[in-house]
Amino acid sequence: MANNFREFNPCTLLAPVPAVMVSCCGVQAGAKPNIITVAWAGTVNSEPPMVSVSVRKNRFSHHMISESGEFVVNLVDEAHCKALDFCGVRSGKDVDKWAHCGLTPLPVKELDHAPAIAECPAYLACKVRQVLELGSHDMFIGEVVGVQVREEMFEGTALHLERAGLVTYNHGVYQRAADVLGFFGYSVARPEVLERRMKVYEK
Ligand SMILES: Cc1cc2nc3c(=O)[nH]c(=O)nc-3n(C[C@H](O)[C@H](O)[C@H](O)COP(=O)(O)O)c2cc1C
Repeated sequence: MANNFREFNPCTLLAPVPAVMVSCCGVQAGAKPNIITVAWAGTVNSEPPMVSVSVRKNRFSHHMISESGEFVVNLVDEAHCKALDFCGVRSGKDVDKWAHCGLTPLPVKELDHAPAIAECPAYLACKVRQVLELGSHDMFIGEVVGVQVREEMFEGTALHLERAGLVTYNHGVYQRAADVLGFFGYSVARPEVLERRMKVYEK
């Protein structure tokens, strides 16, 4: 077979990845919460549920996450894509990102410091369990201690996160996570199951 690849510098070309707004807060009295956009985020364990966010030491948010041991991963929908970008190109040192983006801090019952973003479709409240100093970034591994999802994402008890219009990050570009192509296990599903399940996603 012909080699149709072009060599590219070794880099983190894993794509697409979720781009999320991570909210955090320092521990000093009167500390103001902040938001940082993070694309180096991932699921790292199921039991207990754990996610990671990798943050450079020079980010204003870095000390808030390390001091408080808390962060909140807020999933981002299309309506908040501009806010997602803004929170990734301006520092909380210089600007109140909440006010600028029209976002509201929401107290999180499982956490003492970090608030969630009220306008996002869902959020994961996390407590830092490990920090890995990897080089450019420190990876905060957080145990997910609480999850909240907006009511409109449910049909009965079924969660339809595919309807949230979540934003993905694809090598420097924000992209909508669009059409449903299949579901977990669809490659081996019986034809009647496939037909029934796929109908749900056409809505
Ligand atoms: C799409 C996007 C993804 C980003 N991902 C990360 C990331 O994973 N880790 C990081 O340290 N900075 C990341 N940044 C940069 C920070 O969000 C940016 O430096 C921000 O201004 C830091 O805010 P702060 O100084 O208020 O903490 C990203 C920026 C954008 C636009």
